[in-house]
Amino acid sequence: MRFDEKGVVVTGGASGIGEATVRRLVRDGAKVVIADIDDTKGRLLEQEIGKEFVRFCSTDVTDTGSVDELFNLTEQFCGVDGVFNNAGIGAVCSAIDYKDDDWQRVVDINLTGVFKIARAALARMKQQGSGSIVNCASILGHFGQSQTAAYSATKGAVLNLTRTLAIEHAGDGIRVNSVSPGYVRTPILEALDKETLDFLQTLHPIGRLGEPHEIANAATFLLSDEASFITGADLLADGGFTAGKS
Ligand SMILES: NC(=O)c1ccc[n+]([C@@H]2O[C@H](COP(=O)([O-])OP(=O)(O)OC[C@H]3O[C@@H](n4cnc5c(N)ncnc54)[C@H](O)[C@@H]3O)[C@@H](O)[C@H]2O)c1
Repeated sequence: MRFDEKGVVVTGGASGIGEATVRRLVRDGAKVVIADIDDTKGRLLEQEIGKEFVRFCSTDVTDTGSVDELFNLTEQFCGVDGVFNNAGIGAVCSAIDYKDDDWQRVVDINLTGVFKIARAALARMKQQGSGSIVNCASILGHFGQSQTAAYSATKGAVLNLTRTLAIEHAGDGIRVNSVSPGYVRTPILEALDKETLDFLQTLHPIGRLGEPHEIANAATFLLSDEASFITGADLLADGGFTAGKS
Protein backbone atom coordinates (compact mmCIF):
# COMPACT_ATOMS: atom_id res chain seq x y z
CA MET A 1 0.00 0.00 0.00
CA ARG A 2 1.04 3.60 -0.62
CA PHE A 3 1.91 4.33 3.05
CA ASP A 4 2.55 0.79 4.29
CA GLU A 5 2.00 1.50 8.02
CA LYS A 6 3.95 4.74 7.95
CA GLY A 7 3.00 7.15 10.71
CA VAL A 8 1.34 10.48 9.90
CA VAL A 9 0.09 13.29 12.16
CA VAL A 10 -2.90 15.29 10.91
CA THR A 11 -3.54 18.50 12.84
CA GLY A 12 -7.10 19.73 12.71
CA GLY A 13 -7.84 16.11 11.85
CA ALA A 14 -11.25 15.97 13.52
CA SER A 15 -13.11 18.00 10.90
CA GLY A 16 -13.33 19.08 7.27
CA ILE A 17 -10.19 18.75 5.16
CA GLY A 18 -8.21 17.20 8.02
CA GLU A 19 -10.84 14.53 8.65
CA ALA A 20 -10.99 13.67 4.94
CA THR A 21 -7.20 13.37 4.90
CA VAL A 22 -7.23 11.05 7.93
CA ARG A 23 -9.70 8.78 6.13
CA ARG A 24 -7.70 8.83 2.88
CA LEU A 25 -4.40 8.08 4.64
CA VAL A 26 -5.90 5.14 6.53
CA ARG A 27 -7.31 3.76 3.25
CA ASP A 28 -3.79 4.06 1.82
CA GLY A 29 -2.28 2.02 4.66
CA ALA A 30 -0.98 4.73 7.02
CA LYS A 31 -1.30 4.83 10.78
CA VAL A 32 -2.57 8.26 11.75
CA VAL A 33 -2.62 10.45 14.83
CA ILE A 34 -5.57 12.83 14.80
CA ALA A 35 -4.43 16.01 16.56
CA ASP A 36 -7.21 18.43 17.33
CA ILE A 37 -8.49 20.78 20.01
CA ASP A 38 -12.02 19.38 19.50
CA ASP A 39 -12.07 16.36 21.83
CA THR A 40 -15.65 15.33 21.04
CA LYS A 41 -15.21 15.10 17.26
CA GLY A 42 -11.71 13.65 17.58
CA ARG A 43 -12.77 10.82 19.88
CA LEU A 44 -15.79 9.99 17.72
CA LEU A 45 -13.58 9.70 14.64
CA GLU A 46 -11.08 7.53 16.53
CA GLN A 47 -13.90 5.27 17.66
CA GLU A 48 -15.37 5.02 14.17
CA ILE A 49 -12.11 4.22 12.35
CA GLY A 50 -10.64 2.07 15.12
CA LYS A 51 -7.70 2.40 17.51
CA GLU A 52 -5.70 -0.08 15.47
CA PHE A 53 -5.40 2.51 12.69
CA VAL A 54 -5.77 5.91 14.37
CA ARG A 55 -5.23 7.56 17.73
CA PHE A 56 -6.78 10.82 18.82
CA CYS A 57 -4.53 13.21 20.72
CA SER A 58 -6.16 16.27 22.26
CA THR A 59 -3.83 18.99 20.98
CA ASP A 60 -3.63 22.75 20.93
CA VAL A 61 -1.15 23.62 18.18
CA THR A 62 -0.43 26.99 19.82
CA ASP A 63 0.87 25.33 23.00
CA THR A 64 4.46 24.02 22.91
CA GLY A 65 3.84 21.51 25.73
CA SER A 66 0.76 20.14 23.99
CA VAL A 67 2.72 19.79 20.73
CA ASP A 68 5.48 17.88 22.57
CA GLU A 69 2.92 15.49 24.05
CA LEU A 70 1.47 14.95 20.58
CA PHE A 71 4.82 13.92 19.13
CA ASN A 72 5.66 11.70 22.12
CA LEU A 73 2.40 9.83 21.60
CA THR A 74 3.00 9.66 17.84
CA GLU A 75 6.50 8.21 18.29
CA GLN A 76 5.04 5.45 20.47
CA PHE A 77 2.06 4.68 18.23
CA CYS A 78 3.43 4.85 14.71
CA GLY A 79 6.52 7.03 14.22
CA VAL A 80 6.72 10.44 12.60
CA ASP A 81 7.02 9.83 8.85
CA GLY A 82 4.59 12.54 7.74
CA VAL A 83 2.69 15.56 9.02
CA PHE A 84 -0.29 17.32 7.52
CA ASN A 85 -0.04 20.70 9.25
CA ASN A 86 -3.65 21.61 8.63
CA ALA A 87 -5.26 23.08 11.79
CA GLY A 88 -6.53 26.57 11.09
CA ILE A 89 -9.35 29.01 11.68
CA GLY A 90 -11.17 31.39 9.39
CA ALA A 91 -11.58 35.07 10.24
CA VAL A 92 -13.69 37.72 8.55
CA CYS A 93 -13.11 41.29 9.73
CA SER A 94 -12.07 44.58 8.19
CA ALA A 95 -8.53 45.59 9.12
CA ILE A 96 -9.42 48.72 11.05
CA ASP A 97 -11.96 46.84 13.19
CA TYR A 98 -9.53 44.15 14.35
CA LYS A 99 -9.14 43.83 18.13
CA ASP A 100 -5.60 42.91 19.19
CA ASP A 101 -6.72 39.59 20.72
CA ASP A 102 -8.66 38.53 17.62
CA TRP A 103 -5.72 39.32 15.33
CA GLN A 104 -3.32 37.47 17.64
CA ARG A 105 -5.52 34.37 17.81
CA VAL A 106 -5.47 33.99 14.02
CA VAL A 107 -1.68 34.46 13.95
CA ASP A 108 -1.20 32.03 16.86
CA ILE A 109 -3.19 29.20 15.27
CA ASN A 110 -2.66 29.69 11.52
CA LEU A 111 1.02 30.65 11.58
CA THR A 112 2.74 30.07 14.94
CA GLY A 113 0.90 26.75 15.35
CA VAL A 114 2.10 25.63 11.93
CA PHE A 115 5.65 26.60 12.91
CA LYS A 116 5.50 24.80 16.28
CA ILE A 117 4.22 21.59 14.71
CA ALA A 118 6.84 21.76 11.95
CA ARG A 119 9.65 22.46 14.44
CA ALA A 120 8.75 19.44 16.58
CA ALA A 121 8.38 17.18 13.52
CA LEU A 122 11.60 18.35 11.86
CA ALA A 123 13.68 17.58 14.96
CA ARG A 124 12.49 13.96 14.89
CA MET A 125 12.62 13.59 11.11
CA LYS A 126 16.17 14.95 11.03
CA GLN A 127 17.30 12.23 13.43
CA GLN A 128 15.79 9.50 11.26
CA GLY A 129 16.93 11.12 7.99
CA SER A 130 13.49 11.14 6.33
CA GLY A 131 10.06 12.72 6.45
CA SER A 132 7.45 14.73 4.61
CA ILE A 133 5.53 17.76 5.87
CA VAL A 134 2.59 19.37 4.09
CA ASN A 135 1.39 22.73 5.37
CA CYS A 136 -2.12 23.92 4.61
CA ALA A 137 -2.04 27.38 3.01
CA SER A 138 -4.87 28.83 0.91
CA ILE A 139 -5.61 30.71 -2.28
CA LEU A 140 -5.73 33.67 0.12
CA GLY A 141 -2.02 33.17 0.70
CA HIS A 142 -1.55 34.05 -2.97
CA PHE A 143 -4.06 36.90 -3.24
CA GLY A 144 -5.57 39.50 -0.97
CA GLN A 145 -9.30 39.68 -0.37
CA SER A 146 -11.30 42.28 1.51
CA GLN A 147 -12.12 41.35 5.15
CA THR A 148 -9.34 38.76 5.40
CA ALA A 149 -6.33 40.76 6.65
CA ALA A 150 -5.27 38.34 9.40
CA TYR A 151 -6.21 35.17 7.52
CA SER A 152 -4.53 36.09 4.23
CA ALA A 153 -1.44 37.45 6.04
CA THR A 154 -0.98 34.15 7.90
CA LYS A 155 -1.55 32.02 4.81
CA GLY A 156 0.95 34.08 2.77
CA ALA A 157 3.42 33.56 5.61
CA VAL A 158 2.78 29.80 5.56
CA LEU A 159 3.80 29.71 1.88
CA ASN A 160 7.13 31.37 2.62
CA LEU A 161 7.70 29.39 5.82
CA THR A 162 7.24 26.27 3.69
CA ARG A 163 9.92 27.34 1.21
CA THR A 164 12.39 28.21 3.96
CA LEU A 165 11.89 24.96 5.87
CA ALA A 166 12.22 23.03 2.61
CA ILE A 167 15.58 24.61 1.90
CA GLU A 168 16.86 24.20 5.47
CA HIS A 169 16.04 20.49 5.51
CA ALA A 170 16.43 19.32 1.91
CA GLY A 171 19.80 17.84 2.87
CA ASP A 172 18.23 15.89 5.75
CA GLY A 173 15.97 13.76 3.56
CA ILE A 174 12.93 15.83 4.55
CA ARG A 175 10.48 17.38 2.08
CA VAL A 176 8.28 20.35 3.01
CA ASN A 177 5.45 21.45 0.73
CA SER A 178 2.11 23.20 0.97
CA VAL A 179 -1.34 22.79 -0.47
CA SER A 180 -3.49 25.81 -1.27
CA PRO A 181 -7.20 25.00 -1.36
CA GLY A 182 -9.83 27.16 -3.00
CA TYR A 183 -13.08 27.48 -1.08
CA VAL A 184 -14.08 24.06 0.24
CA ARG A 185 -17.33 22.91 1.83
CA THR A 186 -16.32 22.49 5.48
CA PRO A 187 -17.51 23.88 8.83
CA ILE A 188 -15.03 26.78 8.42
CA LEU A 189 -17.51 28.29 5.92
CA GLU A 190 -20.51 27.85 8.24
CA ALA A 191 -20.52 31.54 9.18
CA LEU A 192 -21.15 32.57 5.56
CA ASP A 193 -24.70 33.03 4.23
CA LYS A 194 -26.06 31.37 1.07
CA GLU A 195 -25.66 34.51 -1.02
CA THR A 196 -21.95 34.72 -0.15
CA LEU A 197 -21.44 31.01 -0.81
CA ASP A 198 -23.16 31.34 -4.19
CA PHE A 199 -20.88 34.26 -5.04
CA LEU A 200 -17.76 32.37 -3.95
CA GLN A 201 -18.80 29.50 -6.18
CA THR A 202 -18.72 31.81 -9.22
CA LEU A 203 -15.06 32.63 -8.50
CA HIS A 204 -14.09 29.02 -9.27
CA PRO A 205 -14.04 28.41 -13.06
CA ILE A 206 -14.86 24.77 -12.39
CA GLY A 207 -18.30 26.06 -11.28
CA ARG A 208 -18.52 24.79 -7.71
CA LEU A 209 -16.80 24.81 -4.34
CA GLY A 210 -14.30 22.09 -3.50
CA GLU A 211 -15.04 18.99 -1.43
CA PRO A 212 -12.78 18.03 1.49
CA HIS A 213 -11.67 14.76 -0.12
CA GLU A 214 -10.34 16.69 -3.13
CA ILE A 215 -7.89 18.55 -0.90
CA ALA A 216 -7.11 15.34 0.97
CA ASN A 217 -6.07 13.76 -2.35
CA ALA A 218 -3.62 16.61 -3.03
CA ALA A 219 -2.17 16.57 0.49
CA THR A 220 -1.81 12.79 0.48
CA PHE A 221 0.06 12.89 -2.82
CA LEU A 222 2.55 15.43 -1.43
CA LEU A 223 2.98 13.36 1.74
CA SER A 224 3.66 10.20 -0.26
CA ASP A 225 6.86 8.94 -1.88
CA GLU A 226 5.21 9.63 -5.25
CA ALA A 227 6.20 13.26 -4.63
CA SER A 228 9.82 12.30 -3.90
CA PHE A 229 11.36 15.06 -6.08
CA ILE A 230 8.98 17.79 -4.89
CA THR A 231 9.98 20.10 -2.06
CA GLY A 232 9.37 23.78 -1.34
CA ALA A 233 6.37 23.66 -3.70
CA ASP A 234 2.77 24.76 -3.35
CA LEU A 235 0.02 22.68 -4.93
CA LEU A 236 -3.04 24.76 -5.81
CA ALA A 237 -6.23 22.72 -5.46
CA ASP A 238 -8.65 25.48 -6.28
CA GLY A 239 -10.92 24.61 -9.21
CA GLY A 240 -9.09 27.17 -11.35
CA PHE A 241 -9.61 30.10 -8.93
CA THR A 242 -6.08 31.45 -9.38
CA ALA A 243 -5.55 30.44 -13.02
CA GLY A 244 -6.79 33.67 -14.51
CA LYS A 245 -5.25 35.94 -11.93
CA SER A 246 -1.51 35.74 -12.60
N1 LIG B 1 -12.57 25.28 3.82
C1 LIG B 1 -12.00 26.19 3.04
O1 LIG B 1 -12.66 26.86 2.22
C2 LIG B 1 -10.51 26.40 3.11
C3 LIG B 1 -9.88 27.09 2.07
C4 LIG B 1 -8.51 27.30 2.10
C5 LIG B 1 -7.77 26.81 3.17
N2 LIG B 1 -8.40 26.16 4.18
C6 LIG B 1 -7.59 25.68 5.30
O2 LIG B 1 -7.80 24.30 5.49
C7 LIG B 1 -7.49 23.98 6.85
C8 LIG B 1 -8.61 23.10 7.41
O3 LIG B 1 -9.79 23.87 7.44
P1 LIG B 1 -11.25 23.25 7.25
O4 LIG B 1 -11.90 24.01 6.17
O5 LIG B 1 -11.17 21.78 7.17
O6 LIG B 1 -11.93 23.75 8.61
P2 LIG B 1 -12.58 22.97 9.85
O7 LIG B 1 -13.06 24.05 10.76
O8 LIG B 1 -13.54 21.95 9.36
O9 LIG B 1 -11.34 22.21 10.50
C9 LIG B 1 -10.33 22.87 11.22
C10 LIG B 1 -9.94 22.01 12.40
O10 LIG B 1 -8.86 22.67 13.10
C11 LIG B 1 -9.08 22.49 14.48
N3 LIG B 1 -8.36 23.50 15.26
C12 LIG B 1 -8.66 24.82 15.37
N4 LIG B 1 -7.81 25.40 16.23
C13 LIG B 1 -6.96 24.44 16.67
C14 LIG B 1 -5.87 24.43 17.57
N5 LIG B 1 -5.48 25.54 18.23
N6 LIG B 1 -5.20 23.27 17.78
C15 LIG B 1 -5.60 22.14 17.14
N7 LIG B 1 -6.64 22.08 16.29
C16 LIG B 1 -7.31 23.23 16.06
C17 LIG B 1 -10.59 22.60 14.64
O11 LIG B 1 -11.04 22.05 15.88
C18 LIG B 1 -11.08 21.84 13.43
O12 LIG B 1 -11.28 20.47 13.72
C19 LIG B 1 -7.29 25.31 7.58
O13 LIG B 1 -5.92 25.57 7.72
C20 LIG B 1 -7.93 26.31 6.64
O14 LIG B 1 -7.40 27.61 6.78
C21 LIG B 1 -9.75 25.93 4.17
